[in-house]
Amino acid sequence: MSADLAAQDSREHWGSRIGLILAMAGNAVGLGNFLRFPVQAANNGGGTFMIPYFISFILLGIPLMWMEWGIGRYGGRYGHGTIPGMFDRLWQNRAAKYLGVLGIVMPLVVFIYYTVIVGWLLGFAWFSITGDYFGNTTAESMSQYLYAFQNIHDTSQHNGWIGFMFYGITIAAVVYVLSRGVSGGIEKLALYGMPILFFFAVVLMIRVLTLPATAFGSPSEGLAFVWTPDWSALGNASVWLAAAGQVFFTLSLGMGTIHTYASFLSKEDDITLTGLATASTNEFAEVVLGGTVAIPAAVTFFGVTGAMAIAARGSFDFGIIAMAVVFQSLPGPQIVGQIAAFMWYALLFIAGITSSVALASPAMAFMQEEFGYARRKVAVGIGAVALALGLAVVVWNQQGWLGEWDNWAGTFGLVIFAFIEIWIIRLAFGVDRFWTEIHEGADLRIPGFFLFTLRWISPAFITGLLLWWGWVDMLPALLMEGIPPEQIAIRWAARLTMVGMLLVGLLLIRKAWQNPRRGLGSAPRGAAREVV
Ligand code: TRP
Ligand code: TRP
Repeated sequence: MSADLAAQDSREHWGSRIGLILAMAGNAVGLGNFLRFPVQAANNGGGTFMIPYFISFILLGIPLMWMEWGIGRYGGRYGHGTIPGMFDRLWQNRAAKYLGVLGIVMPLVVFIYYTVIVGWLLGFAWFSITGDYFGNTTAESMSQYLYAFQNIHDTSQHNGWIGFMFYGITIAAVVYVLSRGVSGGIEKLALYGMPILFFFAVVLMIRVLTLPATAFGSPSEGLAFVWTPDWSALGNASVWLAAAGQVFFTLSLGMGTIHTYASFLSKEDDITLTGLATASTNEFAEVVLGGTVAIPAAVTFFGVTGAMAIAARGSFDFGIIAMAVVFQSLPGPQIVGQIAAFMWYALLFIAGITSSVALASPAMAFMQEEFGYARRKVAVGIGAVALALGLAVVVWNQQGWLGEWDNWAGTFGLVIFAFIEIWIIRLAFGVDRFWTEIHEGADLRIPGFFLFTLRWISPAFITGLLLWWGWVDMLPALLMEGIPPEQIAIRWAARLTMVGMLLVGLLLIRKAWQNPRRGLGSAPRGAAREVV
């Protein structure tokens, strides 16, 4: 029996197909669907945004989704649940595994600041039950409330540490779920969480769509804003960049987490139909649910121009502040507003925590598989690292620590990562061989159009995107153009911390591949190893 086979036998697996679909949907459905999407749509002309959004979804989103499931399942067969081992398998080059460092460190960086946001939402779910912020009925006083809550140095509303306390609770929940394993933890969380999330979202959607018009606007004006395309804006480059970026972010592409989840599949498990099902579930949650709650609600109480002005200030102004004002303005007694508000923030919390466990899972799998550490130990270790670095995010939030990490790990990094993986498949592994691989055990034969897309369109699209984006957004961000001077030092500290994490990751990969006990990375390659 080869070491590969032994490795496969000891791997964890998903318990059921529905559990897998919900876990993958839980990975993808996140704050991006309910906070980021409405704001991106509103800032980029509503209906205008939807055209490049759907084109990017079909030409880049769906093919990449299949690609990442395929790479993940393939890696899992050889005992690798993370990108270094997967790239090493796909591309017989000593550098391949080191490129894979992105697929562990980036999700970990995003995990840390993303969970800080998830903690804020837990706080707001709690304050909705207690009615703590009720009385702040304007966007101005609500923003002061939120900023005080986020700011550890501000004690005007609460003890400064209260935000960090909610972060600690969130981290503890994630550590608990991760230490229960794949089918006992991640899958269970999704089996309970996702139906609740969809239920809350549908209830809120119905409430919002049946709202009476106010002096400012009405729900139908909000819908018209999202669904009236302006074809002339299609020539606008920044709308395309925003749309493609949102497709990446919302589908959790270009990170390494889809791969890790897919590595827990068996060779005979379908990926074509199941992958499409989870991508579609995400789009339903994004376009139908995400698009019909926040935008029509905000348009009803602030008007189209008012809602757009709030959206221009950022995702949290829209999804947290404006929505808190909306819930206080609902017809009926205050308790109705409190319940609706609780549903909104709890739905965001659930969406966020199922994504948080996904973000931590590459680091989990890497330490368990490549070093043989026990699951519980790794989960606690990741929690400890997150608490320490999360403190930096919270303490220096006003100086742009979170924004800096979000730029690099959460936005540009995805495109860089996707660029690397597409070209590894295209040049090293081979598109035809990969096409056969993803049809292994398939319940759905993918139309030939997508073979053409994978071979030509997606590589061209991603390369163009990387160059264009690099020029328009990344270069100015790298040079910190337009950054207030008082933020520069902290943003550099955030950057250097990220570089330090990458270096540690590289060293760990090197160490793992030197480890003779594992015998996976260092064994001779070639035909003999394919016979499993
Ligand atoms: N898709 C998540 C959302 O919509 C965010 C996200 C991006 C993510 N990449 C990820 C979540 C990787 C988990 C894993 O909010
Ligand atoms: N850059 C985001 C903004 O527009 C902030 C952010 C970071 C965010 N991660 C997110 C928003 C996840 C929504 C979901 O404010």
